[in-house]
Amino acid sequence: MSTWANLGLQDSASPLMEQLIFFHDHALLILVMITVLVGYLMFMLFFNSYINRFLLHGQLIEMIWTILPAIILLFIALPSLRLLYLLDEINEPSVTLKSIGHQWYWSYEYSDFNNIEFDSYMIPTNELTNDGFRLLDVDNRVILPMNSQIRILVTAADVIHSWTIPALGVKVDGTPGRLNQTNFFINRPGLFYGQCSEICGANHSFMPIVIESVPVNYFIKWISNNMNS
Ligand code: CUA
Repeated sequence: MSTWANLGLQDSASPLMEQLIFFHDHALLILVMITVLVGYLMFMLFFNSYINRFLLHGQLIEMIWTILPAIILLFIALPSLRLLYLLDEINEPSVTLKSIGHQWYWSYEYSDFNNIEFDSYMIPTNELTNDGFRLLDVDNRVILPMNSQIRILVTAADVIHSWTIPALGVKVDGTPGRLNQTNFFINRPGLFYGQCSEICGANHSFMPIVIESVPVNYFIKWISNNMNS
């Protein structure tokens, strides 16, 4: 999760988020190079007299400064498209989680396993224990197995919400009347925090998401305990 003064991206906990960070760094590098070049040219303009006895036209330089930016843009566009299609790929998921946005909480359904379903509310500040994170912890966490492909289906019951987990590189809108799909792979155990990121009303800030990533045998144990009750 994000802590104080962490202004950059969170550490990745999934292969797709790792790729997103690589692409961010790549685009930022190009951005810095362009900024330095343009900054240098603008600074050098102070020392230019704007007078040249022989200058009538500059076909060659016009060609260069038209084509060069186009080529530079390709170096951003092609990796961007690669990532876009990579994020959309579904790789034989072993678990499907259904997540429904409500004003203002999430409810979850494990349709593969006798339809386990529960609501997940934020823990209010006055009920928080010392080890809880304010505005971030919930009463019922989403339990998911690590090292498995997980499909998530997102929808909403009232207005548009967005199921967003930064560390996993997941952000899917939940829209009433539509079912959106994405998938991810968690590569370590732990807690992963997220928040709704569509402005969905007065308590928009108070519908966080907590994923508890556990080893597969723990997940099976959790599933079978909940199926019997
Ligand atoms: Cu739900 Cu913002």
